[in-house]
Amino acid sequence: MKIFIDTANLADIQKALELGIVTGVTTNPSLIAKEGLDYYTTLKKIASMTDGPVFGEVKATATLAEDIIKEAREIYAIAPKNMVVKIPMNTEGLKAISALKKEGIPTNCTLIFSANQALLAALAGASYVSLFVGRLDDIGQKGTDVVSEVVDIFANYPDIHCEVLAASIRTPMHVTDCAIAGADVATIPYNVIMQMAKHPLTESGIERFKNDYIKVFGE
Ligand code: E4P
Repeated sequence: MKIFIDTANLADIQKALELGIVTGVTTNPSLIAKEGLDYYTTLKKIASMTDGPVFGEVKATATLAEDIIKEAREIYAIAPKNMVVKIPMNTEGLKAISALKKEGIPTNCTLIFSANQALLAALAGASYVSLFVGRLDDIGQKGTDVVSEVVDIFANYPDIHCEVLAASIRTPMHVTDCAIAGADVATIPYNVIMQMAKHPLTESGIERFKNDYIKVFGE
């Protein structure tokens, strides 16, 4: 399973890329707004930091397919080498995804909460479907179950070429469960990536090795 970072914070992206395990960056309008910088400038900067895919979302002010397509073209033009345009799941979004596919513009259908939504997005031609695990947990439905269902469905149909991207990841256990389910990608906030790297027994083990070494060999 690939790991992307889910943020528009440039410092966190830089630190995560330096770990050598992060191969893409996902953003959304809320994440970019939180950083308080210009929308397109932020996406351009992020796209220059990595060769991996960078996900820029249409701003949700466009609701008709023709407006979504127009904005998607602008976002794609920021960095055609690695920009993937995120388009929210609904019927206008599906129309936009299929038109953009014909133009060769890669898309990620986002805000997906059911297997049927994922199936429609894949059939429309989305390169990725973003399944929001944490937001499903928030309403009492096990988010990782939907990841499993979508992985199983796509595996039934070799003609579907759409990556299952687990989003809205809140905990290290979400990551483990998505990997067990067979997700292609998990996009993870910086703080959760940090939690994944830690274990108290690793910390105490390092401390013990250090003390045992110093006792016999000195500093
Ligand atoms: C997906 O790409 C979204 O940016 C993100 O994962 C949403 O997560 P949230 O539910 O924590 O806002």
